[in-house]
Amino acid sequence: MRRALCAVLLVCLALMQPARADNYPSRAITVIVPFAAGGPSDAMMRILAEHMRQTLGQPVLIENVTGAGGSIGVGRAVRSKPDGYTVSFGHLGTHVANGAVYRLGYDLEADLEPVVLLPSNPMIIVSRNNIPAKSLPEFLAWVKSQPNPVSAGTAGNGSGSHIAGLYFEQVTGLKLQYVPYRGTGPAMNDLVAGQIDLIVDQTSNAINQVRAGTIRAYAVTDAKRLESAPEIPTTDEAGLPGFHMTLWSGLWLPKGASKEIVDTLNAAAVAALDEPDVKNQLKNLGLQMPAADQRSPAALGTLQRAEIRKWWPMIRAAGVVPE
Ligand code: MLT
Repeated sequence: MRRALCAVLLVCLALMQPARADNYPSRAITVIVPFAAGGPSDAMMRILAEHMRQTLGQPVLIENVTGAGGSIGVGRAVRSKPDGYTVSFGHLGTHVANGAVYRLGYDLEADLEPVVLLPSNPMIIVSRNNIPAKSLPEFLAWVKSQPNPVSAGTAGNGSGSHIAGLYFEQVTGLKLQYVPYRGTGPAMNDLVAGQIDLIVDQTSNAINQVRAGTIRAYAVTDAKRLESAPEIPTTDEAGLPGFHMTLWSGLWLPKGASKEIVDTLNAAAVAALDEPDVKNQLKNLGLQMPAADQRSPAALGTLQRAEIRKWWPMIRAAGVVPE
């Protein structure tokens, strides 16, 4: 009886140990991207995953789990085993804003382990092509002249494009009618087709359509112009001074993942960010690399906490009641 009790105790103790990292990874890793394939989050993560696969020596698979502004995909990651084989991709929307937009059922800080800060990009105000406006002031005048609120595509409440829309409403005093999609990839298809009026989107999602002339760009929400598209003015230059928003992304693991696993994954992501070809691909999309001193797991945690303190009051002031 005593021996059996000891055996049970030992098994319990073994189960409570954080997942051992000695041979991590020994099989394929899945990154849950909480938005539709073909959108900005998916595009960035696929570029990084290819290089991380080489560093880690195991496939890095992308699983698009969409819905509710990305909160469903993040929830899936939170509930998965903290063994390093299920990774949560997210950003300012999913890992900050959603905490003020939804009753999540998980805690963005307590239930997730920050791994690495990924590239960021300013937002860009883009519209369908057949709107009679060539500049931001003309576009704002057109929006104002419409009898009903104009339609703004988003990736769902709490997503980056939704938070950017709320911020746009606050700085312009104009109302928008939000049209939610499972990502700004599908929203962009409808903008190109003229089904919706505008998106305050991630530059990385819109830039190729802007270059192709299939949509119209008015300004980027940054103090400086994009290296990859210097012809697009900043909001300061275009008549909305101070309307600045940068959407940063990152990787997280479920709470309980061991430091070794976090560090192994962080190192693989950082190696990808430093790889010249990867860097060029991302920069060409208007993405900005995180500074070298901002790439530690702790730096992402610090940024996430600061952004929660910054954006939750803005979201509440916009009258968003958690659903
Ligand atoms: C996406 O990949 O669709 C975006 O990250 C959505 C968003 O947050 O606007």
